[in-house]
Amino acid sequence: FVLVDPATNATVAAGMIRGEGQDVPAVDEPYEESSRPHVSPNVTWEGFALPRVDREAKQGHAAAVIWLTGLSGAGKTTIARALERRLFEQGLRTVHLDGDALRHGLNGDLGFSPQDRSENIRRVGEVARLFFETGHIVLCTFISPYRADRNRIRALLPAGRFVEVHVDCPVEVCKDRDPKGLYAKNAAGHLPGLTGVDAPYEAPQNPELRIDTSVSSAGEAVDLLLRYSISSYTRNPKS
Ligand code: ADX
Repeated sequence: FVLVDPATNATVAAGMIRGEGQDVPAVDEPYEESSRPHVSPNVTWEGFALPRVDREAKQGHAAAVIWLTGLSGAGKTTIARALERRLFEQGLRTVHLDGDALRHGLNGDLGFSPQDRSENIRRVGEVARLFFETGHIVLCTFISPYRADRNRIRALLPAGRFVEVHVDCPVEVCKDRDPKGLYAKNAAGHLPGLTGVDAPYEAPQNPELRIDTSVSSAGEAVDLLLRYSISSYTRNPKS
């Protein structure tokens, strides 16, 4: 399509629709907050004293999990940190869960085997869901290389509340950036199993958003995500 300025007849923009739009359903759709694949024996789900919908109505925005997946060096953390600041300035309740941060402490017992990476993402999904149920816009930045792990987290949340963002960047560009020196370490043989080099990365097939950071700047990515979050999650949550 093209956008034409009716006053001057000049073409001011052109674009292409590359996929179906995603509906964000109303907040009160049926959703079982207690359903869980992992449950200890002899425990009972008590539910939350303050339901999420009450929190959302009071704070004036809906909760969501914005999940940034991509290679190391693609820009996930940089984008999320700037986005969180912008959301905070708009008065939205946010929290940022980051791979390197959670591997200090909560997930510090896990390495980078396929099993450990899956367990890492499973735990993060549970934490994200707790923050979600307390009304937060949860920004998650994890390589999360396996499609099945990401889809399991999507399935934990009501439809429309899991926003998968593929922070896409060719591995050659990530290698050039190499902000933590991991690609150099891998090339020198000191860090085998680096995602995108000698460990797999399964790109999302139908993410809500895909941002190529070898083309778009971090600022542009933040603007895009901010517009998406504001338009999707700041409608009157009861409407
Ligand atoms: S994930 O694969 O389990 O999702 P996560 O996002 O938590 O990874 O952690 C990635 C961070 O761990 C990277 O930012 C990097 O600093 C560090 N790291 C250490 N070893 C590896 C590795 N083999 N592959 C990828 N990242 C690694």
